[in-house]
Amino acid sequence: MAKELVAASQLDAIIAKLDIVEVISEYVALKKNGKNFKALCPFHEEKTPSFIVNPEKQIFHCFGCGIGGNVIRFIMAIENLSFPDAVMAASKKAGIQLDISGYKPADEEKKARLIRANEVAAKIYRESLFSPQGKRAMDYLFERNLTEKEITHFALGFAPNSRDYLARQISEKKLNKEDFVKSGLLNEQSTDVFRNRIMFPIFDLQGNITGFGGRGLDDSVLPKYLNTGENPVFNKSRLLYGINWAKESIKSKKFVLIVEGYFDVLKLHSNGIENCVAPMGTSLTDSHLNFLKRFTDKILLIFDSDEAGIKASLRNLDSVLSRGFETKICLLPVDFDPDRFVDEYGIDAFKKMMGQSKNFLEFVLTVESQRNDINTPKGKSSIAKEILRFVSLIPDEIEKYEYVKILADKLNLKETLLNTYLKEMVKTEKEKGNGGEIKRKISSPNDLAENLLIEILLSENSFWNQLAEWKGLLTKRMELIATTSKKLLANNINITPANLISKVDQDTGNWISEILVKTGTNLPEEKKQQIFQDCLKKIHKFCIWKQVGEMKQKIAEKKASGISYNEELVKMQGLLFELKKE
Ligand code: CTP
Ligand code: MN
Repeated sequence: MAKELVAASQLDAIIAKLDIVEVISEYVALKKNGKNFKALCPFHEEKTPSFIVNPEKQIFHCFGCGIGGNVIRFIMAIENLSFPDAVMAASKKAGIQLDISGYKPADEEKKARLIRANEVAAKIYRESLFSPQGKRAMDYLFERNLTEKEITHFALGFAPNSRDYLARQISEKKLNKEDFVKSGLLNEQSTDVFRNRIMFPIFDLQGNITGFGGRGLDDSVLPKYLNTGENPVFNKSRLLYGINWAKESIKSKKFVLIVEGYFDVLKLHSNGIENCVAPMGTSLTDSHLNFLKRFTDKILLIFDSDEAGIKASLRNLDSVLSRGFETKICLLPVDFDPDRFVDEYGIDAFKKMMGQSKNFLEFVLTVESQRNDINTPKGKSSIAKEILRFVSLIPDEIEKYEYVKILADKLNLKETLLNTYLKEMVKTEKEKGNGGEIKRKISSPNDLAENLLIEILLSENSFWNQLAEWKGLLTKRMELIATTSKKLLANNINITPANLISKVDQDTGNWISEILVKTGTNLPEEKKQQIFQDCLKKIHKFCIWKQVGEMKQKIAEKKASGISYNEELVKMQGLLFELKKE
């Protein structure tokens, strides 16, 4: 089903037939709150509700984690489905028989092109690994104790040491180079980005290839790992390596192992530990954790016990605890990652290490006891405070005080003393705005102009034509909304918040829903026209200012490397002139 298309009119019919309040109520206990409904957000851990459903506009939004959109988006997120599969599920709920033919949101189509390019490249790299020119790479993988079967299963490949190995095959196959440049596989000059590297395709949850990690075949190839650059399908702060192979196992084992590297994931998977994923050279982000929350609320962090490994675990511990995960930590001997450990001592020894993992409190206690002298009052106090700081991040009150009990016992301190200290700590965190549920973003004047535009557009259909006729510049997301709405108008489709959201990407959807569930500004009818035009002008100027900034940057760069920048100066003058115009 993943690749089939749904007719636009059908999608709108499904959205129109379903009541978002009814659908969400199947999963979440909604409480009436003025004209909205409120609940604790099912997508992140929170104590006070910031999840809002608006029946009038048929949208939802969470002010805590930022997710929002229409009923389809909700089903995608809560059921963990791709867009087409969510539409299928929604059609069943609505009792509408799906006629699967030509529909895909504009952005989905763009993403699909990038994924296709990655899939073509993966095939080319795979063929090269299995050909004579890939022999050294193959031997290297064998040396690292992977079998041919595993190499195939993980779809590994080899990018030869050539400036145009991939580029030539793309030309021969008469494929669109542009897609490969946008996917980060070719440079602007149509030369290969990845050279002399073992290629690890990186899959998303649905098993699409979204990018690559490339490991240099020799120590002379730098950097040791090169990852695909950020693009619409490859977002390092969201993707986790191995999730496509791990998801079922995470659900059934009821916890996820977080390791550091590509080889760690492969080595554990190939030895039967499949509930294992790795971020790609970054710490765990909130997006990673929200994503994992769909599968489990237990995490086992595995790190090398050198200084860097301990620092990394402590860094991750902050985010993991505040996201409400039950967290354990497994420290391997210095200089061992899971991959090396399994090679050296075997999988059973590794499992034994896993069995000896510490809960976060024991772990921090061990680390802090090495840093402070527990036998002096000062040392003990530092240790207690540091551990309490972690405890204070846990959202669940009962859990929090259970840990206090354990800590009191371990340090031989009074529980009441620790509790007083903890309360104080939570209070100051809240005052600092760190512990609060809702972080209010500060809006720039441009954001405000965009927000007003969206609000006006969706309050009265007559404004869409004015947007279509606007000749000035627009921000990227407004541009997307303008082109999408033009298409809808051309097909005589009535634009509602819910059906507009289904035609834009998720970030834009989150943004639109956020604007719409905020209490309306109730603009007076007679002022709307003026405000609308003013906002467009403001956005135009903002875009020019942005270009001025970029041009400044370019000039500075060229100046620094002694290149002539006359062309940029002329452009800059043009921009400044444009700014002076009314
Ligand atoms: N990484 C990265 N970019 C780098 C270095 C590392 O993205 N320049 C990421 C990779 O995902 C890598 C992980 O960080 O797998 C861990 O890095 P490292 O420990 O250096 O490599 P290993 O995975 O242990 O690789 P190997 O076993 O081949 O040395
Ligand atoms: Mn390693």
